[in-house]
Amino acid sequence: MPSDLPEQSTSIPRFGFSTRIGFVLAAAGSAVGLGNIWSFPAQVAENGGAAFVLVYLVLSLVLAYPALVAELMIGRYGQSNPVSALENLPEDRLWRPVTKVTAIIAVLMICLIFSFYSIVGGWLAGYTLAPLFESAMPDTASWLKTFAPTRNFVLAVAFIGLTLAIVNGGVQKGIERWSARLMPLLVLLLIVLIVAVMTQEGAEEGLQHYLIPDFNRINGSLILSALGQSFFSISLGVGAMMVYGSYLKRDANLPGVALQVCLLDTGIAFLAGLLIIPALFVALNLGVTIYLPDGHLANSDTLVFEVLPALFNNLGVMGIPVALAFFSLMSTAALTSSISMLEVPVACLTERGGLSRRKASFVICSGVLVVVAVVISSFDPLFSMVVNLTTGYAQPIDSLLFCLFAGWLMGRDRKLQEIQKGWPGVEHSLFWKVWPWYIRLVCPVMIASVFVLEHIG
Ligand code: PHE
Repeated sequence: MPSDLPEQSTSIPRFGFSTRIGFVLAAAGSAVGLGNIWSFPAQVAENGGAAFVLVYLVLSLVLAYPALVAELMIGRYGQSNPVSALENLPEDRLWRPVTKVTAIIAVLMICLIFSFYSIVGGWLAGYTLAPLFESAMPDTASWLKTFAPTRNFVLAVAFIGLTLAIVNGGVQKGIERWSARLMPLLVLLLIVLIVAVMTQEGAEEGLQHYLIPDFNRINGSLILSALGQSFFSISLGVGAMMVYGSYLKRDANLPGVALQVCLLDTGIAFLAGLLIIPALFVALNLGVTIYLPDGHLANSDTLVFEVLPALFNNLGVMGIPVALAFFSLMSTAALTSSISMLEVPVACLTERGGLSRRKASFVICSGVLVVVAVVISSFDPLFSMVVNLTTGYAQPIDSLLFCLFAGWLMGRDRKLQEIQKGWPGVEHSLFWKVWPWYIRLVCPVMIASVFVLEHIG
């Protein structure tokens, strides 16, 4: 297949989602993952509780939601991988190199995200397997749970291997099936655990910390963290939603499905916080060290892995099955996100480079493994540098550019036609009155001001 003819990609038979609910679940599967249960609670704990939650919820609705509609729309309009979709977007050919380079950066960034994600996904896999070995092989159980370079690498390889196996199965068979089965179970287990944690000592204080905001805590750096967290959690700015948009049926209502995905993701993050912040206060009560004397978290990367086992131990005989259920559902949620990460470069390599799906996914995973090995070999400071570069900067900035491209380089008529396919009367709606100028001006200016605000304190 020629690699230099992006227009060709429209004629390549594409995978697709068989039902609309299948798409919503798969896109929500991409969105719901470690961002909700590993990094959101840690950010809440680090940034003063409810004040962060409030800013996060507002930003998810006023910035992430419109940006998600833009990203899905670019993908569905292009009917191709993000590089081709963005390259072919501008009416004026002069802009094509700019949109193409932005897309390539986004693809590289999602590969970097995939590498740190695999390390944390591996930890999760370790915590999932550990309860099975606890009584018969305690040494193996403790190896699985103890932070060490070899264990980190072996488990990350296992996580990448699983992701590879699913992505090789193709979109419909792999992604849709997994997401549809396991997401509802995760929500159910979260609710059961929230009820369980509320009965324990210290939980009430945690609940207050989570729900009653101290407005004095809101400043530039809190807002920037909330912005990065929100874009990471909704999988924005790196092409994941663009690729999923390209698999979405023509008659699906883009603003509608985007809203469902946003609400599901934000709802699950909120639930996860409702479990983990009170659990953190219960753990504090039990003497687990969480905060340093200066008020910062002792270890934000592993917070959840300290707090939750302490909670599960407290549940008596039920502790082991609950730990097993929780960590396996979490691992699955992480997998439904990582498959969307791998899907982005795989779609680019198959459609533009002519590689087979299998070959493309092997090539990408080998590259990601090298990055994983480098990050693990010098965990401090590389891990947080990679997290910060990708989620704190690349995602919001790329997303800002996607909004500008959709807003300024794609004519109003083309946008309207694309959205009308799934929402015939959209031109008379409030959505259409607001959204086009919102992504042209408001989103870019607001995202840019968050960065400015952070720098002036
Ligand atoms: N949104 C996912 C999560 O919350 C992470 C992700 C980021 C997935 C970027 C795809 C792209 O875990």
